[in-house]
Amino acid sequence: MSKKIFSGVQPTGNLHLGNYLGAIKNFVNLQKEKENICIYCVVDLHAITIKQDPEILKKNIRETTAVFLASGLDPKKSIIFNQSMVSSHAEGAWILGCVARMGWLNRMTQFKEKAGKDKEKASVGLYIYPILMASDILLYDATHVPVGEDQKQHLELTRDIAQKFNSDFNAPNFLIEPEPLIQQNFSRIMSLKDGKKKMSKSDPSDQSRINLTDNKDQIVNKIKKAKTDSGILPDNDSDLQKRPELNNLYGIFSSIQDQNLDLTIDEFKGKNFSDFKNSLSDALVEKIYPISLEINKLLKDERYIDEILLSGASKAEKIASKKVNDIKKKIGF
Ligand code: TYM
Repeated sequence: MSKKIFSGVQPTGNLHLGNYLGAIKNFVNLQKEKENICIYCVVDLHAITIKQDPEILKKNIRETTAVFLASGLDPKKSIIFNQSMVSSHAEGAWILGCVARMGWLNRMTQFKEKAGKDKEKASVGLYIYPILMASDILLYDATHVPVGEDQKQHLELTRDIAQKFNSDFNAPNFLIEPEPLIQQNFSRIMSLKDGKKKMSKSDPSDQSRINLTDNKDQIVNKIKKAKTDSGILPDNDSDLQKRPELNNLYGIFSSIQDQNLDLTIDEFKGKNFSDFKNSLSDALVEKIYPISLEINKLLKDERYIDEILLSGASKAEKIASKKVNDIKKKIGF
């Protein structure tokens, strides 16, 4: 059955293995199913919820686009654009913000994590950010949204907003409630330094993540230094589950190799840690390093990237502005 796919990635630099395995790899797989309509957005309006240097933001918008392309997204098959070029996203967010309830936003765990201890100093944008995300999704009538585990709660909020809008304006099924597409396993890639902490672009330690722009040596070094424990390699899943760092590395290996965890456990039981780490480095170098090379190549041609974003924005604008107009009619404007 044909799916309408929408997803977004923030251009905040340091895109990493978590972004790739949790989301972008899935974007590419969904694009392979010919009947799907795929729309992928560089969500620059989301990025400015935290202060950005204008020159670095500009660079990161291009870099995130290059990551999409280098990972296998094809502008002939998918719409690729950046959010700020389609003003309907912000317009939709205002209207949906009048539908969403404060209580719903107050429950968002990502805001609590990102705002930290001093919530009073967080931007208002950071607080209302999930409403903009709902606007992104609902303006395209997306049926499915591929994301990592950390975005699940925002997807639930999007569904609540769609339901309330439809019920407030007596418009059954007008806004489509999207389904999250979260990889069953490996939907949360953890830090290489702490198996209980998410791999994140904002982690001050570069050793905690594999960046998609890392070179061979950096990949090999980071895996060599990745935290493990002192036990022997596990021969069953319940042992592995008790060991967060190793569980994460086994998850990364399985996901990269497209194989299930049991197979990975079987492959390495009775072997040494160094055997496993060598295989993991090899697998990452084989799959991630070509992406890194391609990103660097693409970044040399800024015009090409800008053209893709411009042409994607013009396609996205047609869809999104029509939906915003329909929304306006429903609410009496
Ligand atoms: P962002 O930019 O933080 O992350 C982009 C995607 O990467 C996934 N991800 C991870 N997956 C597994 N393990 C990790 N350690 C990891 N870190 C990040 C995220 O789940 C995400 O899928 N709010 C979104 C962007 C957004 C969006 C949207 C997504 C804006 N509008 C509409 C979908 C639909 C965000 O900040 O993702």
